[in-house]
Amino acid sequence: MEKPNHHILVCASFRPNGDPKGKCHRKNSHEFLPYIENEILDRGLDNVHVSSTCCLKMCEEGPVMVVYPQNTWYGHVESEGVIDEILDALEAGKVAKEYLL
Ligand code: FES
Repeated sequence: MEKPNHHILVCASFRPNGDPKGKCHRKNSHEFLPYIENEILDRGLDNVHVSSTCCLKMCEEGPVMVVYPQNTWYGHVESEGVIDEILDALEAGKVAKEYLL
């Protein structure tokens, strides 16, 4: 397996003791992971990986998602439609400005 060109981080609100607490978790950010993974496969984005994370410390903007290496931070990622817009922008080499933090 080659290293990814892009890495999408999805806040799953994990805290140091392992418990998920926070706005992202309460808004079911973890449920977006399989959707994102399937979209990546459907779009043929073999060079994009997705991972869940601890709290990204921007809870009030949650659910939070980050795209590296661009270091693009998105907030209020609350639906599959928003994820589609972000992935559309990634494919086009752009950013989904409406959701930028
Ligand atoms: S819980 Fe997601 S940024 Fe804190």
